[in-house]
Amino acid sequence: MISRVLLVVCLSLRVANSMPPDKVPIHIIKARSIDLNNAHGLAMETRLDKVVEPTGYKLDLEPYLEDAVFKGHVAINVTWLKEGNELAVHCSHDLEILESEVRAHFPDDTKESRKIVINKWSMDPKKPIYTLYLERNVPKGSTGFLKFSFKGNMETSSMEAFFKTTYTAPEQEVERVVAATQLRPNNARRMFPCFDEPGYKTPFELSVVRPRNMVALSNVPVARTENIPDEPDAVTDHFEKTPPMSTFTLGLVIADLKQLNNSIMYKDELGNEIEIRVWGRPEYLEALDGVNEKVIRVFKELAQVWRVPLPLRRLDIVALPNYQGVKPADNWGLIVFRESDLSSRGYLQLAQELSYQWLGAFTTPAWWSDAHLNKALVGYIAAATAFKINNGSEMEGKWPLTVLYSLYYEFSKRYPHSRITGMKQETACTKIELLFRMFNYTLGDETFKKGIRMFLESRKFKTFTGDDIWNALNTAALEDGRIPKDIDIKTVAQSWITKDRLPLINVQRQYDSKTAVVTQKVYLRERPHDVPEAAKMSWLAPIVVAQEDSLDLKNTQPATWMKDKKELKISNMPEKSKFIVVNPEEIAPYPVNYDQDNWILLSNFLQSDKRLMMPELTRAKLLHDAWNLAYAGELSFATAFNMTLFLKNERHHLVWDPVFTMIDHIGRHICQCLQGKFQAYVRILLSPLYEELAKDEKEDEEAWRKNLRALTKSFLCKAGYKPCIREAQEQYSKWMQAKNPDEGNPLGNQYICPVFKWGTMKEWEFGLQRVINFPPSRMQSERTYLLKTLAGCPETENKINRLLNITMLEGNGNFSETDMFLIFSMLTGSSGGYTTLFHFLSNNWDVLKERYSSRTNLWDNLITSATSVFTTEEGLELVSHLYITHQGEFGSAEHIIEKSMRNIREEAKWSAENLPVIEAWLDKYLANSDVKDDQFYKN
Ligand SMILES: *[C@@H]1O[C@H](CO)[C@@H](O)[C@H](O)[C@H]1NC(C)=O
Ligand SMILES: *[C@@H]1O[C@H](CO)[C@@H](O)[C@H](O)[C@H]1NC(C)=O
Ligand SMILES: *[C@@H]1O[C@H](CO)[C@@H](O)[C@H](O)[C@H]1NC(C)=O
Ligand SMILES: *[C@@H]1O[C@H](CO)[C@@H](O)[C@H](O)[C@H]1NC(C)=O
Ligand SMILES: *[C@@H]1O[C@H](CO)[C@@H](O)[C@H](O)[C@H]1NC(C)=O
Ligand SMILES: *[C@@H]1O[C@H](CO)[C@@H](O)[C@H](O)[C@H]1NC(C)=O
Repeated sequence: MISRVLLVVCLSLRVANSMPPDKVPIHIIKARSIDLNNAHGLAMETRLDKVVEPTGYKLDLEPYLEDAVFKGHVAINVTWLKEGNELAVHCSHDLEILESEVRAHFPDDTKESRKIVINKWSMDPKKPIYTLYLERNVPKGSTGFLKFSFKGNMETSSMEAFFKTTYTAPEQEVERVVAATQLRPNNARRMFPCFDEPGYKTPFELSVVRPRNMVALSNVPVARTENIPDEPDAVTDHFEKTPPMSTFTLGLVIADLKQLNNSIMYKDELGNEIEIRVWGRPEYLEALDGVNEKVIRVFKELAQVWRVPLPLRRLDIVALPNYQGVKPADNWGLIVFRESDLSSRGYLQLAQELSYQWLGAFTTPAWWSDAHLNKALVGYIAAATAFKINNGSEMEGKWPLTVLYSLYYEFSKRYPHSRITGMKQETACTKIELLFRMFNYTLGDETFKKGIRMFLESRKFKTFTGDDIWNALNTAALEDGRIPKDIDIKTVAQSWITKDRLPLINVQRQYDSKTAVVTQKVYLRERPHDVPEAAKMSWLAPIVVAQEDSLDLKNTQPATWMKDKKELKISNMPEKSKFIVVNPEEIAPYPVNYDQDNWILLSNFLQSDKRLMMPELTRAKLLHDAWNLAYAGELSFATAFNMTLFLKNERHHLVWDPVFTMIDHIGRHICQCLQGKFQAYVRILLSPLYEELAKDEKEDEEAWRKNLRALTKSFLCKAGYKPCIREAQEQYSKWMQAKNPDEGNPLGNQYICPVFKWGTMKEWEFGLQRVINFPPSRMQSERTYLLKTLAGCPETENKINRLLNITMLEGNGNFSETDMFLIFSMLTGSSGGYTTLFHFLSNNWDVLKERYSSRTNLWDNLITSATSVFTTEEGLELVSHLYITHQGEFGSAEHIIEKSMRNIREEAKWSAENLPVIEAWLDKYLANSDVKDDQFYKN
């Protein structure tokens, strides 16, 4: 498939939130705190043989900051779990072990421990494992220690392990040094020999030599600082002993830092007693103003969520100069942020990092394969906390819609994750985050919290697996009578986690008996719907039902659970004249279809003045479900369009948010024959909203308002809104009048697409000349952008033909093969584009074939782009005609055009069913509309 680049990107808007995931990354703010990309590799890692287990580390470090090297000694207390004469520890190849020593106290020894002779030692050439071969067997139950002296280099090219970086403060010429660690996930072995697996939790006693004029911070407070004989400029900080913890949560920072204001002493009735300090470089403290207060608010909320006190006396939060790590270093008791992350607005990231103090450090995933569960629960708790503190403003109030809609689009594809494999882990994690949200609703807030508290209480200072969480939730749910006896949380969770699919729940009310029949099947949006095993899939989905007279949604306990059964009946439905909503608030991640009468009741209610009794998330869901079900072929478009009628009075941005994605999807999918009418509909839908938003533009307005206005404007502009296009042309004329237009473009990117789409040939030609004359010294991405808009924005044939002539026929040397790929890809984004490309191919067949058929990549791509995106019977005829006319001439693309025809046949069925319905609905709507439509250019 060709990746279609959205035309609206021309207006460089943040449509990110509702766009399907192949166009924009999901997880805009959130994907920072755990190495999911690494998780797979880590899951494969060889574990150490369990001959001994560590029970404590004494680590003395002596870094030489100037030279970026360090020396150290580590003494690891161990207990022999079985008899053996070999010992292995993790140790990276970059670390050099200078001396080793082993002492043991045998169980039957009366005297003190004895030295065990080391016969030989070796470093595994492939794996970071260092093995000691002992002269004799040490019996099971012995205790003792391993001692190593070692030296190593600090990392200077990345911010991992024990690294060094430098920065120069503005207005001060001196370069300053920063040393710090990021040991997650398995970098401790790059700093000292150790048992580098999360399951080994032990106390650490750290000492570190630092320059006298700098600060050293670690997981716990400094117990004492010692002078060093003959070294007036350095001292040794001895830190207190830490609580038992995993190696990756050990942390260290040495830098020129100052504390922001005073420490906060936080004490509560739960047993927390902790000093919280915020640090930054002196010049940056001003930017951090207010962070203390934010930290304390978040900490307080989280302490109340977990109710298990953190066993820390002190928590340091650092804005580390020049820290570029992809994620904050969330050491236990020492969180290291990028400067801009700590000073940024919002609470989400802070809530995430603080949550890791409980979930991640206090209790820890047993292995990296469980890390996504940790991340998912942290994600849920952080979002819930940030929203509680910062309601509407956090992520513009869009959680969980941002992530939820991405899942809906991804999992309903024929091949989920087919394009971006790295995303699979990320979506899996998001899905689990939404499952936690589902359990919060279905078990109730109190029971849910009780469950996760029980979980933490039983796993603190230990590690956990998914089962520990699910079982604790289950116990809490049973105790509180929140789930039926024959349901168990783990089985429920598994039914969602094990599949890259989501269910579609269909509800058919039987009005006479006041019952409803509920069925489930795999939710598929893209055609064809022939997914293997589809018939076998089922989910344990909670069926929460809201009725017209109980819309406050205080009770979100499911009426029932969809078990393995595909079908069940629910009773106590309201009378005929009252609607029901299943899965309100997107409690579980699934769309819902209804019988037509219930849809009509919903549509009428939403158009009434009681509309606001229904929460906005549910209003958005009904709209989003209806459109996507129609797109999927599950629901009549007349019903889906009816569900948009209430938008006339709707002003909540959450409800509008999905509308833009839908306009884009449907606009792209319907034939060219309906574009004019569809655009008229879009204009009538959007212009009242835009005019209202345009009236009260303010400097300090909320971010959602700015974004909604910009989105509305860009879509209107695309639909031919005159004021917007005139403005764009005025701006563009500045460029046309510039003395040296090739030096740079003086106008905002958002103006270019409307001019190329609605402006004159002359304006468009000027843009083309800029691409042709683009100086090599300028950023090539600007040229790419211009070329994309030149190809993707116009829908009229002559502009597109001119571009194809010059690039494909005239052989203008300014266009590379990559450019042609880009042009084809843009043309597949609209019916005007790919239809013109098709005719161009067909009219110039001989020349094109002669010139390009031997360049198979390009040729195949041309054939795909020109033939695969049609959706109608007429399109099928065009393509079939080309196929027959040139049978045997397609070369490498023979199978491509055959596949195109199969796909179009499938899509044509959809069009044959849906286009007449759409057209009839639009005709009626346009005829009855009282909105003035003279502010528009029309196709
Ligand atoms: C190691 O063991 C010794 C002797 O039992 C003990 O004094 C010391 O505190 C232990 N070290 C750590 C870091 O637990
Ligand atoms: C905290 O420190 C900042 C920066 O040094 C300063 O501007 C602010 O007034 C201080 N606030 C309080 C409450 O002391
Ligand atoms: C959140 O909402 C409450 C009540 O609706 C309001 O009092 C509070 O100021 C809001 N908080 C923020 C940060 O907007
Ligand atoms: C958790 O569930 C309760 C209902 O029990 C709901 O009021 C609350 O908003 C939910 N919290 C989140 C973060 O979804
Ligand atoms: C759509 O709404 C119109 C007007 O309210 C109504 O006449 C029509 O039956 C509805 N169509 C569907 C399919 O719900
Ligand atoms: C493209 O080239 C063809 C033949 O060379 C010519 O007839 C046509 O007018 C050209 N179209 C445009 C828009 O330049």
